[in-house]
Amino acid sequence: MAPKSVCIVGSGNWGSAIAKIIGYNVQRQPDAFEKKVKMYMYEEIVDGRKLTEIVNTDHENVKYLPGIKLPENVVAIPDVIEACTGADMLVFVLPHQFVKKVCEQMKGHIKPGAVAISMIKGFAITGGGIQLISHIIAQELGTECAVLMGANLAKEVAEEEFCETTIGSKTDSTGQLFKDLVETPYFRVAVVKDADTVEMCGALKNVVAIGAGIVDGIKQGDNTKAAVIRLGLMEMIKFGEEFFPGSRRNTFFESCGIADLVATCHGGRNRMLGAAVVESDKTIQELEKEILKGQSFQGPLVAREVCSMLEEKGLCDKFPMFVAVNKICQRVMDPKLFISCLRNHPAHL
Ligand SMILES: NC(=O)c1ccc[n+]([C@@H]2O[C@H](COP(=O)([O-])OP(=O)(O)OC[C@H]3O[C@@H](n4cnc5c(N)ncnc54)[C@H](O)[C@@H]3O)[C@@H](O)[C@H]2O)c1
Repeated sequence: MAPKSVCIVGSGNWGSAIAKIIGYNVQRQPDAFEKKVKMYMYEEIVDGRKLTEIVNTDHENVKYLPGIKLPENVVAIPDVIEACTGADMLVFVLPHQFVKKVCEQMKGHIKPGAVAISMIKGFAITGGGIQLISHIIAQELGTECAVLMGANLAKEVAEEEFCETTIGSKTDSTGQLFKDLVETPYFRVAVVKDADTVEMCGALKNVVAIGAGIVDGIKQGDNTKAAVIRLGLMEMIKFGEEFFPGSRRNTFFESCGIADLVATCHGGRNRMLGAAVVESDKTIQELEKEILKGQSFQGPLVAREVCSMLEEKGLCDKFPMFVAVNKICQRVMDPKLFISCLRNHPAHL
């Protein structure tokens, strides 16, 4: 079989870290992959120069992943159609809000038989509920779309610190192909078939992380935080059972589940938000402006949509943490009452 050509769609913090891995891996496997890796980069001017030009001459994404050299065979391209044309493998690593628009541009330019993977965490909020990003990509482009999620902070991965990740792929061949593309001695990959659960974990962990932040805000200790993490995990499992039939419990014990949950509940933006919600009276929007300066917190949006799905099905009683986090984010509940909502959790009955 001819070597496969790879296009990375996205080039932010995580996009650049994964580009480093892919750039080196394709060179190690010349029979399997083409050497040139095309990376779609949304054009920006940094210090008077185009970011694509900086990446292609200095081999460093100085804006999104400063201090890390990218392999020279990774080529930044500002036109997504040029980048994706002819690619056999598409790696999606854009912030979720840009996915639909970028897919619309790519439509009609995808090589027949191409396969995709989404490394994008979060749900698309449709108003009528939630939609998995990999499903949007598959629908828009007519390709199979696997997912990759895990406790994978981009900076640590780029610095080659050991971690694990999970690929969810409904077909074995696609899962193996992407594993070959991204696995390294410091980035270990497990492949599972339960792709929807893998992706769901990547979004729901942000709701639990707000709960962990509230624990910090109300000055409770490690025992309480561990209880919140465990109860959050139980609600994630239950949510899978209710809304993603066929969801397997084992998937929650992969990196995409418990490991990403623990990492996010100790670091990360949504944990920070949970602590801030206790310490000030500001709205989520005000806190967003103050803490993130223009970006948005995923957790409150996911909590709101998840809770409207729970309400519709009359399931709120079974998910006291998701419900409490949502109410606290909406400012209709005092964060000091968070723990009392968990005392009679269904997981204790
Ligand atoms: N950063 C991490 O540590 C990490 C780890 C694992 C997964 N992820 C996931 O990866 C995804 C991407 O995150 P990131 O951290 O790389 O993002 P980022 O915030 O670093 O990058 C933002 C990217 O969006 C691009 N962009 C800005 N406006 C755009 C537009 N209008 N159209 C298209 N692109 C535009 C920017 O050029 C930049 O490349 C997210 O879903 C995130 O959850 C991130």
